[in-house]
Amino acid sequence: MPDLNGAGPPRTDLERYAEEVFVREDPLLAELRAETLARGFPAIQVPARTGHLLSLLVRISGARRIVEVGTLGGYSALWMSKALPETGRILTVEKEPDRAELAREFIDRAGRREAIEVAVADAMDVLIDMDPQDGWDLIFLDADKERLPLYLRESERILHPGGLLVADNAFRKGRVLDDPGDADPDTRGVQAFNRALAASPHFDAMIIPVGDEVAVGVRR
Ligand code: DHB
Ligand code: MG
Repeated sequence: MPDLNGAGPPRTDLERYAEEVFVREDPLLAELRAETLARGFPAIQVPARTGHLLSLLVRISGARRIVEVGTLGGYSALWMSKALPETGRILTVEKEPDRAELAREFIDRAGRREAIEVAVADAMDVLIDMDPQDGWDLIFLDADKERLPLYLRESERILHPGGLLVADNAFRKGRVLDDPGDADPDTRGVQAFNRALAASPHFDAMIIPVGDEVAVGVRR
């Protein structure tokens, strides 16, 4: 079997089984993972099975307008775009210009330039400016973890009822169990985000145990 994982190899035989049976990665996406490494970027894009799950969530929800926070090389955006309807659009926000350039290259090569717009910006600036009237269906959070609680607040404002909030790294490779007093700032961000999402009167939510685990909330 090809290595489909990048940052997150399966932790159990059962997770490996699910991957082997269900997950197929495009050659272009495999090339993108290799190129991400070759350019010296951290290989922290989602594993293929999380990409596959993201595309399923797009399909299930029928999302047409998606915003992604944290593009890296466009790997997860390209996975999501597979399930996008004809008129669907993804706006993906990346702070680092050289990462955005890699993403644009591969989005072009995938023939998805019309569907996926890469914005070089700070995610918070973009989210704050977003108008709920524009009909955002799905928000995927996969950038810095410290500000996750702030991203949650904006997502609650932006998403319409039935809209989906999805966040990668819900378990932080197990560090989410660290004592918050000892945890690193990113882990504390994830801990606070998970608790706030779970307690929010505005979302029905759960963690889906795929990859480094994905928190999913449906806007009420
Ligand atoms: C790491 C992994 C991620 O998927 C991410 O979004 C951010 C950081 C990490 O392993 O450090
Ligand atoms: Mg991630």
